[in-house]
Amino acid sequence: MRKVLIIPVVLLSVILTSCKGPSAGLDMITLDEIASQLELLDANIIKVQAEAPLTANGQRKVVPRTINKDGSFSVVPAGDWTSGFYPGVLWYMYELTGEAEWKERAVRYTAELEDQQYNGSNHDVGFRMFCSYGNALRLTDDESYIPVLEQSAKTLISRYYAYVGSIRSWNFNEENWQCPVIIDNMMNLELLFWASEQTGDPVYHDIAFTHANTTMENHFRADNSSVHVVDYDTITGDVRMMNTHQGYADESSWARGQSWGLYGFTMTYRLTDHIAFLKQAEKIADYLLDHPNLPEDLVPYWDYNAPGIPDEPRDVSAAAIMASALYELCKYSEKGAYYKEKADKIMESLGTTYASEPEENYGFILGHSVGSKPSESEVDVPINYADYYFLEALLRKKKLDAQ
Ligand code: GLY
Repeated sequence: MRKVLIIPVVLLSVILTSCKGPSAGLDMITLDEIASQLELLDANIIKVQAEAPLTANGQRKVVPRTINKDGSFSVVPAGDWTSGFYPGVLWYMYELTGEAEWKERAVRYTAELEDQQYNGSNHDVGFRMFCSYGNALRLTDDESYIPVLEQSAKTLISRYYAYVGSIRSWNFNEENWQCPVIIDNMMNLELLFWASEQTGDPVYHDIAFTHANTTMENHFRADNSSVHVVDYDTITGDVRMMNTHQGYADESSWARGQSWGLYGFTMTYRLTDHIAFLKQAEKIADYLLDHPNLPEDLVPYWDYNAPGIPDEPRDVSAAAIMASALYELCKYSEKGAYYKEKADKIMESLGTTYASEPEENYGFILGHSVGSKPSESEVDVPINYADYYFLEALLRKKKLDAQ
C-alpha cells in the first residue's frame, strides 16, 4: 500500500492552486511505475514457468492471477476464468504507451488462450476471450483474431436457455440449481453484440438483448441492488431461487456483483441504444454512490452489508470496475459530470492508497481485492482483474480529459 504524502499546509495551498487534477499532493502511481511493476510481474511469470510449469492437475501455468494464502505467486492455466485479464492488461499498456514491446508481449499471451474459444464449461468464455482477443482485434485489426472470436461467441450461446431467456452461468451445484445465472454474466454480452455486428447474424445480438432484459427483470430488488445468483427452472423458465455465492448473504449486496451490473448495463446501452438499460445503469450507480456503507474514499467493502463494517476488507476490484463503468456512463447520462467526478475520486484512491509500492506484490499494480470472502479465498490481495479494469479506467479517463 502506498503512503499519502504529508505536505505542509502552506505548500499544499500553492500546489492546489497550480494543479488542476484531483490527485495534487498525493503519491499517485505513475505510468512508468506501472510499467516497472508489470516488468516485475513478467519476470515472475517466467520464473514460475521455469521452476514449476504445471498445476497439481497437470495444466500449464500461463497467466498471473493473485497471491496465494501462503504468500506464493499464483499463475493459472488458460482455462481459469481470469486468464483473459493479463493479456488485456498488456493490450491496455500498449494503448496507453504506444510502445511495441507491450504489443509483442500482448500478442504472445493472447495466443496462449486460443483453445479457450471452445471452452463452454461456463459463461466465462466472454471474459476470457473478449478481454484478450477482443482487445487484440480492436488494437491491431489483425483479421486472424476474428474466427477465434466468432467461435467464442458460438460457444457462449451454446449455453443459452430459450425458455429462461438467459445464458446459463455455471454447471456446478447441480443438486440445487438448474440454470444458475449470475449478475457477472452481463459482462459476457459484449462478445455477442460484436459477433452479430461482425457476422451479420442477429442471433448473438438477440440472445444478448434477451439475457439483459431477463436480468433486469429478475436480478434487481426494489432498492436497485442486485442478487448474485438467480436460478431458473429450465422447463418453465420460472425463478426457482435467489442466492449468493460470493456475497455475505442471499439478501446482501455483494460489491463486485453490483459493479458488474453497473458496467454491464452501461455497456449494453452503448450497444443497443435501449433506454431502459441506461436507466438501469443510472439506478445502480445512484444506489452505490448514495449507499451509507460506501466509504469516503469510494472503495467499497467486499459486501455493502458485510456484518463487521468498518472492520471488513475493501474490494479494490469492485472499485476499479465501478470507476471504468462510471467513465462510460458519464458520456450518456444527464448526470455525467457527477459520475465523472466520482470516477475521478475512485481513481485517486486506487492510484494512491491502494496501489502497490515499487517491487511489491510480485508486480501486480493494485492490492486489496477480495475474490471470495465466504470461502476465505483471495482476501485482501492483488487480483489480475482489478489491474485490468484500473488500466481500462485510466484509458477512459485519459480520453475524456483530452476532449
Ligand atoms: N465472475 C467471478 C467473480 O467476479 O468473482
